[in-house]
Parts: sequence; C-alpha cells; structure tokens
Amino acid sequence: MSTFDEILPELTKIFYPFQEDITKMKPILVNRDLNGRVRLIVDEKWEGDKHQQIVLDEITSKIKEELGSHAYPAQQAVLFESDIDDFLKRESCFQLEGISDVFVIDRLAVESNWSRISSLTSSIPRTVFFSIKGGVGRSTALAATAWALAEQGKKVLVLDLDLESPGLSSALLPEDRRPFYGITDWLVEDLVNNGDAVFENMVAQSALSHNGEILVVPAHGANPGEYIAKLGRVWMPRVDTEGKRESWSDRLRLLLDDLEGRWQPDVTLIDSRAGIDEVASACITELSASTILLFAIDGDQTWSGYRVLFQHWRKTGVVRDIRERLQIVGAMIPEVGTEEYVEGLLERAWDLFSEELYDEVPAGKVSGEESFWSYDQFDGSAPHYPWAVKWHRSFAVLKSLHGRLKDIDNEMVRAIFGPLIAGVELSIETDGGFK
Ligand SMILES: Nc1ncnc2c1ncn2[C@@H]1O[C@H](COP(=O)(O)OP(=O)(O)O)[C@@H](O)[C@H]1O
Ligand SMILES: [Mg+2]
Repeated sequence: MSTFDEILPELTKIFYPFQEDITKMKPILVNRDLNGRVRLIVDEKWEGDKHQQIVLDEITSKIKEELGSHAYPAQQAVLFESDIDDFLKRESCFQLEGISDVFVIDRLAVESNWSRISSLTSSIPRTVFFSIKGGVGRSTALAATAWALAEQGKKVLVLDLDLESPGLSSALLPEDRRPFYGITDWLVEDLVNNGDAVFENMVAQSALSHNGEILVVPAHGANPGEYIAKLGRVWMPRVDTEGKRESWSDRLRLLLDDLEGRWQPDVTLIDSRAGIDEVASACITELSASTILLFAIDGDQTWSGYRVLFQHWRKTGVVRDIRERLQIVGAMIPEVGTEEYVEGLLERAWDLFSEELYDEVPAGKVSGEESFWSYDQFDGSAPHYPWAVKWHRSFAVLKSLHGRLKDIDNEMVRAIFGPLIAGVELSIETDGGFK
C-alpha cells in the first residue's frame, strides 16, 4: 500500500504515458486534500468527450490502484470545473515534476506552506535571523548586531517574533523601559479592528543605543497579561464585514509596513522562531526580507533541517525567488579546534548548497557568468560560506544579556560577532532602496 511520500512520484509515473492527451485538456489539477487524498480537477468542457473520458478513466483507475487509501473512489475521482484557469490563478499550486500542464494544489491544515515567497517591496532592508535549532545564540547575535549598527549611527528597528519563547526584548530593554504592549497585543486587537489602540505603545527605545537608535518591538508588553490566551489567537485570519479574508501572515506584513512607516528605520532586524514552524515560515517567506540568515552549528539536525526546506522550495518551484536572499551564519564557533570545526562547517554547507541550490555550471563556463547562480567552495562571498560568530565565555550562561551589553565595547563585539556584523552592514548598503 502506498504512503504519503509516494503520492507525487507515483502520479508522475501514471501521467507520463498520457502527456499528449493531458496537453490537449490542459491544465489538469491534482487536488491533494487535508487528509492527503487526491482527485483530479478538469475543465468541464471535456465532460462529454468520449475519448478524453476514456483517458481520464484510465488515469483515475490507475491512481486508485497505485495510491489505494490516498485516492478517492472512482465516482468521486474527477471534479469538472467551469472556470479552471481562474481556479489555477486563485490557488497556490506547483507543477507535478516531469509532467507539463499538471499542477498540484496542496491543502494544508496550517496557513503557512513555506512556498509563498513575497517579492522585495520594502525600501528598508529587512534581515531575518533564523535557525533550525534553538539555543544557538541567535537572539544574542541579533542584539549584538543591533548594538553595533546603532554604534555606527544607524536607526535600527528590532522585532521579537519568537512569540513562544521571547527573549530578545529583555536583552535590549531593562524592565523599566519595556513598552506597554507587544506584537501579540497588536495581532489580537487587529482581529476586532482595534490595532490603533496599541500601535503607538508597542515600541521602546533601548538605552544601549549611543550614536544611533535601537527601537524594540517586543513579543509582549511590560506586563504579559493573558499571554497564553492571546497567543492562541494571533494565528487567526481577519475577516472583514464584506467577507474579505486576511491571513495572519498578511496581517503581520501590514503591521511591519506600518511600523516602518511610523518609525522610519535604516534597517529592520527580525528574530524568527526556530525550526520548521508557522511563524518561521511567515518570517522567512512572507515578510519580504532581503537577507535571511540561517544560523548553523555543525550537526546532522541542522543540515537535514535545511535540506528539507531547500528541497521543498525546489519541488514547489520557488527556489529561484528565495535562494539569493539566504546566508549561512556559523553559530558559536568553539574556542578549541576552531580551524577544523570551521572547515567541517564550510564543507557541509557547501555540500548542501551545491546539491540543492546552486545551478550546475556546464563544462567550459565559469560560475557567475550569464544566468548561472553558483559559487566556488572557498569563495568568501558565497551564501554557503559561514559568517562566523565565536563562542565566548563572557556570553555563556548570562544572567542578563542587557547587563553584558551595557558594559561592552566595540572591539569586543567585533572580536566575537565581527563577520556577522560586517555582512549585515554590507547587505544594508546593497539591499537598501528597492522602491
Ligand atoms: N557567542 C556566544 N558565546 C557563548 N555563549 C553564548 C553566545 N551567544 C549566546 N550564548 C548563550 O547561549 C544561550 C542561548 O542564547 P540565545 O541567544 O538565547 O539563543 P537562541 O536565540 O538561538 O535560542 C544563552 O545562555 C546565551 O547567553
Ligand atoms: Mg532566541
């Protein structure tokens, strides 16, 4: 009996001999429903066509034979639709591998599908900090980056979107400086059109900013209030009186646009959630981030997690829209055996990027030429080449990161986080001004 992962490869095999008829009937949609059961959606003009009906019967009985429980019964195996092109435009779908004119509509029980990549629309560069694992020093590195950029005179907007384990704001704001509200409050108020009630009171300036400004938008306010009850509602879509629906990630994007409009930062830094998670998906794919930092410690969990993501982007046909925004960060590089560790990290990152993301450059051509997107293994400007953050004893087991950052100097920050900060500075210069 077939299981879920065999659905798409089996469908490719089943459709392959019928390519000519499929092209005549195009497009054919494969609807994979919430339970993981598939059926076809075909233009209604073929409903009475004898020849095509035979073809469809052959395809659907083969689907039932091969996919068993993952297929609909024969009587329900095809849905005829009157406005199929409209349907295709409305739904997010991807081409079935190896078959032209067949598209898969994948219904998920969660809103995020990791493959709606928003284009770069903001004039303010947005950088997302992401990791597969938690506890790799991501929030600490973000706080240090904000500190260093503000030291350079920049105005930095920082968002803590690690809503389930917020921590960034306490690193940048002492308790008495926290704003009254946070992102969670806005998302909940917006559901009842009351976002304005909290908008002006969800941002606070960090006392760590000397030359520039660090404006912090925390996950929750000084008093978290009924945080669990609010958190359970942030993911809700908003439906207005005319029935127009806004997904929670759309709402989040609008909030970010409004915050940037109100505070006019030079750069926005976003702390995402770790892992293959709903919030992380929104931060990475739907907030129009120009730089997506992938924190990595050298271990199987890290690399297999990133591989799952990269393969998903390939399968759903969006990899070209997102790959140039990615950058590996080497997290907590150990003090001893540093060189060996960094070599291993680079090798694993290179394997991953060259196998999943880089174009294969034909013999005789040079990478970087024409439209080939590819880098050499040792190219320091390559996205797989880790920007290093060092493990440092003064940051380990801190009672208060805010206390640590209060006394730190530029030299120390650069010694630990230097390549990351330099990389972010460069990306601000090159990514700014998209509009
Ligand atoms: N560069 C570093 N060197 C040593 N310890 C660090 C470093 N960065 C963070 N830490 C420590 O590691 C722990 C996790 O850091 P944190 O930034 O909260 O990780 P994450 O956001 O990835 O979960 C904290 O105790 C922090 O003090
Ligand atoms: Mg964190």
